[in-house]
Amino acid sequence: MATVTRLALWAIAAVVPASCYPATSPLNIDIEAREASLGLLIGPSVVEVPASIRNVFPAKDFNRPVTQTYWQTEVRSGDPSGIANHTLRQLGNATFLAFDRGFYDVLGIKDYRQPKKVETIFTFPAGPSYANRMVHDGTVYSPECNCIFAAELYPPKPGFSMQFLPWVWRTNLNGTAPVTEKVYPDPPLTIANGAYYHDGAVYWQQEGNYTTPGGIVRMDPLTLKTAVVLNNYLGHRFNSPNDVVMTKRGVAYFTDGYYGFDNFNDTIKPEMANGVWRWDSKTGNVRMVAGAGTGIFTNPNGVALNREETTLYITARGFASADADGNRNIYQFDLTANQGRIAQPLLFAYSDAGFTDGIKTDKEGRVYGGVTGSVDIFDPQGTLLGKINVAPGDTAVNMAWVKNWLYIYGRDKIYRVQLNTVGSQML
Ligand SMILES: *[C@@H]1O[C@H](CO)[C@@H](O)[C@H](O)[C@H]1NC(C)=O
Ligand SMILES: *[C@@H]1O[C@H](CO)[C@@H](O)[C@H](O)[C@H]1NC(C)=O
Ligand SMILES: *[C@@H]1O[C@H](CO)[C@@H](O)[C@H](O)[C@H]1NC(C)=O
Ligand SMILES: *[C@@H]1O[C@H](CO)[C@@H](O)[C@H](O)[C@H]1NC(C)=O
Ligand SMILES: *[C@@H]1O[C@H](CO)[C@@H](O)[C@H](O)[C@H]1NC(C)=O
Repeated sequence: MATVTRLALWAIAAVVPASCYPATSPLNIDIEAREASLGLLIGPSVVEVPASIRNVFPAKDFNRPVTQTYWQTEVRSGDPSGIANHTLRQLGNATFLAFDRGFYDVLGIKDYRQPKKVETIFTFPAGPSYANRMVHDGTVYSPECNCIFAAELYPPKPGFSMQFLPWVWRTNLNGTAPVTEKVYPDPPLTIANGAYYHDGAVYWQQEGNYTTPGGIVRMDPLTLKTAVVLNNYLGHRFNSPNDVVMTKRGVAYFTDGYYGFDNFNDTIKPEMANGVWRWDSKTGNVRMVAGAGTGIFTNPNGVALNREETTLYITARGFASADADGNRNIYQFDLTANQGRIAQPLLFAYSDAGFTDGIKTDKEGRVYGGVTGSVDIFDPQGTLLGKINVAPGDTAVNMAWVKNWLYIYGRDKIYRVQLNTVGSQML
């Protein structure tokens, strides 16, 4: 019986193309009523995908490699009327995918029928021809310059180490429209990646290269003058520092992985285990707090704290994003239990598309992760509420909060969306 009902509902879906819903025109009440009975709710910007559809795929035979998005699921057979393909197109063309009604609180809309916009504010110029994978990371807001900084990286030509880029991107928010341009830290950063703002300064993570060890570099957001503030652990080079978060008291947690060695060929062979480090910028104390050869952090990546600074979130990747069996997790650590040491991690979420790169939190404790095709938003318990889609083919790398605006830095473009919350680091 349930099956018959579901098929009947899918048959109705086939006759309701999204093109019936131009973004600005009033909704057709009749079609809306039919769609409400369907389950797949198609609004001008939001498509709400109920559990019934998420749980039982609307074609008999299908498959999806882990680097592809939900809407790129391959329909292998059992979709004679093309309903599954039609649905996937709706998902791919939506600006937002809602999986839980809690998503509407984040977006500040009542339901899927209300329009909601994501603006594209910049398209990065293409990199060199071999750079099929640009990365724009860091994404740190400084109130002094009212601007966001982002690093640029791309893979090396075969037989080369990654090209050292003397610039970072700066999005200036002073004008009526944001202006994004290259600026030049002085001295330049050596393969910069993540960054965090603390007490008037930007703290960059840099991977380093063959001749310059990686670590943490402090930058004045106005003069762009830089100074290395951490580059070793008792003489050991870090492997390739990736991302950093800091408490209000100035304690940094940063991730160290093999990205520089494995992906970018820009560091000498690592001499330490990958893991998560804690650096107290006030006392200078530095120590490994997670990973350390225990397995879960082949390549730890993004880091974030909740508003209360009691929970640390860390994203991790296996050896390559395409490893079906690889790590693509967000881990959650309790910082309160053991006086600065961190307890066993909880698996917070497993990414469905690629792996979670940058990660941010909001004042209600929700977690935002940049993945292939979207920013995924989880409630504090790890339930995926929905996705903010980015342009076709783009990957959300990292984000920066500016009050209630979420700026999303992709491989290709920069987007922004105004949400009904604020970033926890804005408080
Ligand atoms: C569904 O789309 C795939 C390609 O995305 C295509 O190969 C297949 O023929 C389509 N199926 C139907 C029934 O339209
Ligand atoms: C959006 O819809 C158009 C027209 O139906 C389709 O050609 C395109 O593939 C869709 N985009 C995505 C990302 O699925
Ligand atoms: C934005 O304006 C402030 C105040 O006038 C100024 O100090 C800052 O340098 C400006 N930001 C940029 C990126 O020019
Ligand atoms: C890594 O970079 C070095 C120095 O640029 C180069 O000699 C070597 O061939 C590169 N290795 C690979 C695997 O591309
Ligand atoms: C390594 O980084 C330094 C700056 O720290 C830069 O001057 C040098 O050109 C880089 N080396 C390579 C091979 O890119």
